[in-house]
Amino acid sequence: MGRMGAEDPARVSRAVPLVDLKAQHAAIAAEVQAAIDNVMSNTDFILGADVAEFESEFARYCDAEHCVGLDSGMSALELGMRAMGIGPGDEVITPAGSFIASSSAISFTGARPVWVDVDPKTYNIDPALIEAAITPSTRAIMAVHLYGQPAEMDRILAIGRKHDLPVIEDACQSHGARYKGRRTGSMGAFGAFSFYPAKNLGAYGDAGALTTNDAGIAEKVRMMRNYGQREKYDHVYLAWNRRLDTIQAAVLRVKLRHLDRWNELRRTIASDAAAHIARGRARLPPLRRRGRGPRTRAGRACGARHIDRDPLPRADPPPGGVPRGRLRAGLVPRHRGRGQANPLAADVSRAHRGGSAPRRGRARPGRQRFSPSLSSSTGRKYPHQSTMGRARVYGFLPPA
Ligand SMILES: Cc1ncc(COP(=O)(O)O)c(C=O)c1O
Repeated sequence: MGRMGAEDPARVSRAVPLVDLKAQHAAIAAEVQAAIDNVMSNTDFILGADVAEFESEFARYCDAEHCVGLDSGMSALELGMRAMGIGPGDEVITPAGSFIASSSAISFTGARPVWVDVDPKTYNIDPALIEAAITPSTRAIMAVHLYGQPAEMDRILAIGRKHDLPVIEDACQSHGARYKGRRTGSMGAFGAFSFYPAKNLGAYGDAGALTTNDAGIAEKVRMMRNYGQREKYDHVYLAWNRRLDTIQAAVLRVKLRHLDRWNELRRTIASDAAAHIARGRARLPPLRRRGRGPRTRAGRACGARHIDRDPLPRADPPPGGVPRGRLRAGLVPRHRGRGQANPLAADVSRAHRGGSAPRRGRARPGRQRFSPSLSSSTGRKYPHQSTMGRARVYGFLPPA
């Protein structure tokens, strides 16, 4: 025992930043500087050589035929859906627990997000509940590989085939993860990636990409990101400027070379942390460990939950849906702090007035339904989350 007032080494706690981009940058500073200098001497700032190089390197990395560099993950989701013809009057099934952009992208096409609850064991969309949410207006199923953990793609793809519905992969949190040997972003109609700086593969600003094996989707999105141009001044669509910046592409090319090693490190750290946390009163979704089959998480965050402090509120809506006030009051976690993962659904429900409440199947006795992002809230979790404040949406911007 130490003297009163003196620090007991066994009890000293040290705040460890959840994401340390400064340390990451220091390790690759020279490589990044050289890549940026190269862009500056080439002055090909818009759709320059590094964009095309990154697209082919990232497509190869993801085992996808095409990659289109974009300004964000949200653009990848939205433009991919628009390229598939999704729009007003359509419904897209999506998990009730995700970052808000999964649902916002659907709303911005003019379609309606239809929320399906997640599996408490994986925090990903529960395939057993998807079919009950399909209606004649359903146009696609969006799986989100949340916290780096691939969704149950075989079951989801089988449902898609059965109902003739394409499956979209929101892979914004799963760079490098594999499902039964297949890379996320290579299994569905298209995959959407975010390179927000704190992601496993993060740019030095906003950036994103769409991956696909469908040449038609790739071609349309390529046009949509660049004012609808097929060739210079040949504008096929009324469209946007959603291009991936050349400097960001140059940075991403450098970081892509390190991604597998960094993911491996994250897995090791996550396993260590999980082992320690398991001795305490926190609950984590299962982490797939190295050497246990071909399915690997990208070692991203996961929502830790302190069992004394963070109860899982029931999310079952009464017949006819959940009154908005109740959804908000009942589902907002009690402890929401900086650094928590995706405190989504209550905010989404406020923002997406056109969306439906989470769909659930028949209640199974003893099985609690929930969306973890509604309930997980230690406030002190994983590296990438430290800079993420909680989503606040005060109004709904109707789709154009
Ligand atoms: C699951 C998910 N989808 C979509 C997005 C949107 O990506 P971006 O911020 O690049 O638009 C994010 C970003 O955090 C995300 O985590």
